[in-house]
Amino acid sequence: MFGALRLPHTILFGGGQRHVIGAAAARIGARTLVCTDARLAQLPVFADLLKDLQAHGVEARVFDRTIADLPIESINECVAGIGDFKPDSIIGIGGGSCIDMAKVVSVLLTHGGEVSAYYGEFAVPGPVLPLIAVPTTAGTGSEVTPVAVILDSGRGTKIGIASPYIIPHMAVCDPELTMTCPKGLTACSGADALAHAVEGFTSKTRPAEPLLTEQHVFIGKNLLSDHFAKLAVVNVFRYLARACTDGSDVEAREGLMLASLAAGCAFGTSGTAAAHALQYPVGNLTHTSHGDGVGALLPYVMQFNRSANPDAFAELAGVVGLGHASMGVEARSQLFIDEVAKLFAEVGIPRSLEALGLGADQQQDVAAGALKAERLVKNNPRPLDLAAMLNITQAAFAGERAGLRDL
Ligand SMILES: NC(=O)c1ccc[n+]([C@@H]2O[C@H](COP(=O)([O-])OP(=O)(O)OC[C@H]3O[C@@H](n4cnc5c(N)ncnc54)[C@H](O)[C@@H]3O)[C@@H](O)[C@H]2O)c1
Ligand SMILES: [Fe+2]
Repeated sequence: MFGALRLPHTILFGGGQRHVIGAAAARIGARTLVCTDARLAQLPVFADLLKDLQAHGVEARVFDRTIADLPIESINECVAGIGDFKPDSIIGIGGGSCIDMAKVVSVLLTHGGEVSAYYGEFAVPGPVLPLIAVPTTAGTGSEVTPVAVILDSGRGTKIGIASPYIIPHMAVCDPELTMTCPKGLTACSGADALAHAVEGFTSKTRPAEPLLTEQHVFIGKNLLSDHFAKLAVVNVFRYLARACTDGSDVEAREGLMLASLAAGCAFGTSGTAAAHALQYPVGNLTHTSHGDGVGALLPYVMQFNRSANPDAFAELAGVVGLGHASMGVEARSQLFIDEVAKLFAEVGIPRSLEALGLGADQQQDVAAGALKAERLVKNNPRPLDLAAMLNITQAAFAGERAGLRDL
């Protein structure tokens, strides 16, 4: 048996938990930098956070111009505006983009240099300013993960900074903050969370050598991350459609945030794989959201990966109550894939790369671009080369015209 987890020092989950932030920041130090975006900065809930910080004697500097998908220019603008304000902590509050902003700014304020110096795995040389991460979407799990995703338009793609040093010190998951998410955002962030859980649970299993966690930020399937992946899958199946149908359904909002948190706890150690690698060029070419992209790709990636570990997919079918023990592994694993595709269709995730707006002549570029995401490619349970990437891309492009079948 083998398991590993890298997580924040403290994780809080539940309605109203955000009211602890002032006290928690004060314990770290008297000055904090708050990274958010223009939407949240206008809301009473944000004014309340600033009052809470002030009531605890914490001086706050606010950067509220985080751009979604985190273009590098937005990070540089934030750092340039800080001047000689020396924060003791950084609060990232908003969607994944705001939390990732806080992570990268924390690296730059501690270690200096250009953002690009930290691309890839283990490039951050040491501890960073303590981060308090407060998500307002139920999707990325960034509040607990060791990665920040940046849009580097010079390179024409998304790129990650992956280091255990950027795992937030504290994650505060308050589902009340997600009540304002419109249906499309709820659907695509939920699809992202499910993709994290499924890709984490079915990622490559590596020999449990003692140096495994020193050599890889994302180490692949293991018993402890599996536990969180299953918690996430159960809750996405139970609550995603409900939250999309009725955004005021408090229980569904709570269940979805629990799912995205649990999925983050899973993939933060195990890692994700082909669906995430393929989304990078797809997002870049179609300008569509990360969640819609991974959601459109996931059924086809599962269909490609099923033969590498059919038991894992069959186990997930069992976790959500599909099929029964007398059915074979083949049938149960396929049932799970079919059900994911059905759920995504129900909540309006685009059902093919064509529906997402990809051109037929761009499929080769997607396959070649996806191969560049090395940390994701090496984590896929079945080896990936250009032909394999193209195979998945073509199936996902055709979507239902070709149907779901093993690749
Ligand atoms: N670091 C990680 O572990 C990780 C994992 C997955 C994805 N990501 C990255 O996270 C980013 C996506 O994050 P995201 O999907 O959370 O969205 P986001 O932060 O990009 O925000 C998208 C939009 O949703 C709005 N929004 C956020 N919360 C809202 C709310 N409660 N109500 C209404 N509108 C709201 C924002 O203002 C913004 O306009 C991408 O850059 C992706 O690559 C990071
Ligand atoms: Fe993701």
